[in-house]
Amino acid sequence: MKILQINGSARSEGAHSTTIANRISERLLQEHPAAQLEVLDLSVNPVRVFDEAAIQALFTPAEARTAQQQERAAHSMALVARLQQADVLVLGVPMYNFGISSQLKDWIDNVSLNQVTFRYTANGPEGLLKNKRALVGFARGGLYRGTEADTQTPYFRAWLKFVGIEDVQFVYAEGLNMGEEASQAGFAAAEQDLATALAQF
Ligand SMILES: Cc1cc2nc3c(=O)[nH]c(=O)nc-3n(C[C@H](O)[C@H](O)[C@H](O)COP(=O)(O)O)c2cc1C
Repeated sequence: MKILQINGSARSEGAHSTTIANRISERLLQEHPAAQLEVLDLSVNPVRVFDEAAIQALFTPAEARTAQQQERAAHSMALVARLQQADVLVLGVPMYNFGISSQLKDWIDNVSLNQVTFRYTANGPEGLLKNKRALVGFARGGLYRGTEADTQTPYFRAWLKFVGIEDVQFVYAEGLNMGEEASQAGFAAAEQDLATALAQF
């Protein structure tokens, strides 16, 4: 079993979403000692911004790409390859301004490629990442779980399904900026979520 852990925080130190992602992988490894873990920390190794040059490169057929476009497309394809090789995707997701970090969004944009990780059929979109599961760990300053302000849960459920990953579980560390007691309760709740998630693994 191969685990790919993506640390989505902008912070390389003291990131709570990385703490949660590390904990998820640690528990997975405890239960599956033969599993291999690969970690991509986007704060240390940011992927390239998904800008106009990226779109032009990736939307040009491979045989028609300039050398520069080939090089840009190869960056995205290398990220996709790491995802394709994984059996389990662990995501560490910070909440920034009701959304996700720009680092994590850039990673998602780089790996969401038509005909590679999804395609459109007469019946609608089809995800091409088969036989994978995901564990998504959230770190949030406030409390949003189960409310309309939790934009992240539906976003990840929709995006992961779009690329073919439907076996998804969520771990919530919330209230982390609401004082020591709330923060401790948030991490304890995350541990409980993780136990529930792993029981279904
Ligand atoms: C720029 C920024 C924006 C934030 N926006 C929110 C927010 O909208 N809602 C919230 O609950 N917490 C917010 N927070 C608090 C973070 O969710 C919290 O610090 C969390 O631990 C971030 O994950 P990280 O520690 O992995 O970076 C924000 C923090 C930062 C630095």
